[in-house]
Amino acid sequence: MATKYNLKQWAYAATVMAAASSQSAWAEDAHSYAKLQEVTTPHLELDLTVDFEGKQLRGTATYDLVRKSDDATTVHMDTRELTISKAEIWQDNAWQETSFKLAEPHETLGQELTVSIGEATDKVRIHYTTAPTASGLQWLSPEQTKSVKFPFMFSQSQPIHARSWIPIQDTPALRLTYDATVRTPAGMLAVMSADNSLDPELDGNYSFSMPQPIPPYLIAIAAGELVVKEISDNVAVFAEPYIIDDAAWEWADTPAMITATEEMYGPYRWDRYDLLVLPPSFPFGGMENPRLSFITPTVVSGDRTLINLIAHELAHSWSGNLVTNASWRDLWLNEGFTSYVENRIMESLFGERRAQMELALGYQDLLDNMERLAPKDTVLNIELGTRHPDDVFSQVPYVKGQLFLVYLENKFGRETFDNFLRQYFDDFAFQSISTAEFKAYLARHLLAKNPDVVSMDKVNEWIHEPGLPADAPKPTSNAFAEVEKQMQRWLKGGQLTTQEWTTHEWLHFINNLPLDISSVNMRRLDEQFNLTQSKNAEIAHAWLKLAIVKNYEPARDRLRNYLLTIGRNKLVSPLYRELAKTPDNLKWAREVYQQAKPGYHPLTQTVNEALLYPEQ
Ligand code: BES
Ligand code: ZN
Repeated sequence: MATKYNLKQWAYAATVMAAASSQSAWAEDAHSYAKLQEVTTPHLELDLTVDFEGKQLRGTATYDLVRKSDDATTVHMDTRELTISKAEIWQDNAWQETSFKLAEPHETLGQELTVSIGEATDKVRIHYTTAPTASGLQWLSPEQTKSVKFPFMFSQSQPIHARSWIPIQDTPALRLTYDATVRTPAGMLAVMSADNSLDPELDGNYSFSMPQPIPPYLIAIAAGELVVKEISDNVAVFAEPYIIDDAAWEWADTPAMITATEEMYGPYRWDRYDLLVLPPSFPFGGMENPRLSFITPTVVSGDRTLINLIAHELAHSWSGNLVTNASWRDLWLNEGFTSYVENRIMESLFGERRAQMELALGYQDLLDNMERLAPKDTVLNIELGTRHPDDVFSQVPYVKGQLFLVYLENKFGRETFDNFLRQYFDDFAFQSISTAEFKAYLARHLLAKNPDVVSMDKVNEWIHEPGLPADAPKPTSNAFAEVEKQMQRWLKGGQLTTQEWTTHEWLHFINNLPLDISSVNMRRLDEQFNLTQSKNAEIAHAWLKLAIVKNYEPARDRLRNYLLTIGRNKLVSPLYRELAKTPDNLKWAREVYQQAKPGYHPLTQTVNEALLYPEQ
């Protein structure tokens, strides 16, 4: 790593800066009951027992309290399906029981927890148990894992699911440090978004510390039959034994990615960067849990072509984890900046051709998404009200956000824009910021210093208007132009030359085949390239989606098998959405879904039930 740093120094700087961060952002999170203007909880101590039989976490959450208002005598937290047995405050050198109240459940937000803290205490402790149906946890039986020896559990807290396994002020406007003690059955390993040991003794007793202040949605836990393999001094992979060697091989470029990002945007400030392979039911491609990104096994493709996902999760160590969106309306500050940095990392390691293909694929996904989204949901600074952020998840914050930054880069020049970004990450390190704060910073540090290049009106159009500005970049790729030429020749009966194609060219090819392609041509492709049986989860996805549109029956069994074994929602839900379009396919899809459901994560269940049973 380019810069070694002193943890204590960072923690100190972060505390000072967090204290200076604006009150306005705090009041604006419609997805939390926390009242940060009254009391904050800058440190958490967790003590949890993982009960696989009961599918429950059981234990205590103890918080340090900081009073922001003189007359606050309660602290307000978020919970969802938690059973609270007791609340205590530290007073007169002892824990004393205190009163608490759980409000009626709100469908999206869960239940507000109000705990009496009197006027003097600076510590509160909550005793609780999670529900087996906790929206932020998935519990897998031994039979649902590859080795069939141990069960597996993991969390996915972003955006508002931390509250389903910890009573917490669940707003990204808060930052807190944490320590944790976790108990599992012996022989299993627990890991967290914290300082994981590389040489753990599997005695079922684990302790963790996360010394840098993070938002609640980055608190993460997993437990299962896990082994460790080091890639370099500062990067290791944690995984079930069946995939550990393949994953370590697939992600060998991670240390070089860290170095490249540090050169562009400043020091990596989280000490180690480890990767955890989740079971195939993990609902996302990746999740940037600090020090330990959680990754789907569906990107272990054996050819290193999907490692932009690692670049993406790593990039969040700057955009998202260091500088954090203050509310879910500002998600584009996390995901748009991260998609931009991801692409810059890819360019730096693998050159412009590959980066350009990835940008073009993203752009096409964005255009597809925008076709089915209500215009108001194509706005970067989206109006959510109290809608669940999961319900409006789309490529808009990612790719439209990224295109906005590409636009700024083109206008101001790469050097100027890189310097701006580097300074931005430094100035807001360990803080949460809103879109309004970003705009003010942009106006002052980029627009005003380079007058008459980009107007504030243009910035507002990007951030507050639906769709894309007329002068938005329209990424294309020379490599894809070649693919299209080949496609035209092939459709007329010629041969394809695909020896040099990577996943990218295949995705572009399949996604752009004419929808009136004949079944003879579908079969011809499949026989030559074995697409139905592709081991690459992304290529298989694109092909299976087309197979549904075309009613290409030879792919049915594979489609069923795919839906039964993969739970990454981005790969699963476009298939159910396509199937739901005809009555026969819908009937078939519901049967497959019911069979797959016990293995799906709660998020994958919710999203796909909305597609398959819209009337409910
Ligand atoms: N942080 C996101 C996942 C997320 C976003 C979860 C919002 C809940 C709410 C993660 O970094 C992500 O974007 N994953 C993508 C990666 C892809 C864009 C390379 C995914 O899972 O597909
Ligand atoms: Zn992301």
